[in-house]
Amino acid sequence: MKIQEAKYVMSNSDYEKCPAPNMPEYAFIGRSNVGKSSLINMLVEKKSLAKTSQQPGKTQLINHFEINNAWYLVDLPGYGYAKVSKSEREKWEKMIGDYLHNRENLLCTFVLVDIRHSALAVDLEFMEGLGESGIPFHIIFTKADKLKAYQIEAQLKAYTEKLSELWEEVPPIFVTSAEKNEGREPILKAIESYNAT
Ligand code: GTP
Ligand code: MG
Repeated sequence: MKIQEAKYVMSNSDYEKCPAPNMPEYAFIGRSNVGKSSLINMLVEKKSLAKTSQQPGKTQLINHFEINNAWYLVDLPGYGYAKVSKSEREKWEKMIGDYLHNRENLLCTFVLVDIRHSALAVDLEFMEGLGESGIPFHIIFTKADKLKAYQIEAQLKAYTEKLSELWEEVPPIFVTSAEKNEGREPILKAIESYNAT
């Protein structure tokens, strides 16, 4: 799919104030600093559409981007960031949870995981929560440039094995590097096929 236009629409702390749910929507979620905002920029080929930072906790609101006047990409705050206060963290988690559970045009969620880490409880619990609520999701490994090809293979295998202990059906896993601009097409293809449904 060709990205002809990608524009920022608005940022909200409340899902009810988000744009009218009249187009398909895809959200990017994962631990703080995993590379959600960078991946969105890579997908739309715009360096600083979504704001990125070396410091975790950069994205603090539900950010809507409109693509090709036809669908929305949503950049969410990260979960599990230990350095913000408990009340702040709980506020973000409620904001994310309310959004994910209530956003009627959300067709699929992409859960991002740093490819260097073995399966973390916080990620697995988050995915289990999505599964229990019937929210479809795909998994995206980020920062693949940090590992060699054989290490990527080993991480993919270990992660898939871990997931298959939890579920009969393991969701699709994409491998990406925003740094090296890798892994873009398969994700856009997945979005395209959702858009067509
Ligand atoms: P929060 O909004 O704070 O939750 O973070 P985020 O998940 O949006 O991460 P962000 O895109 O801001 O990136 C965090 C850091 O990781 C930045 O320093 C990015 O440059 C770096 N980063 C993101 N993707 C990649 C990647 O594919 N490879 C490498 N090497 N670094 C990356
Ligand atoms: Mg971010």
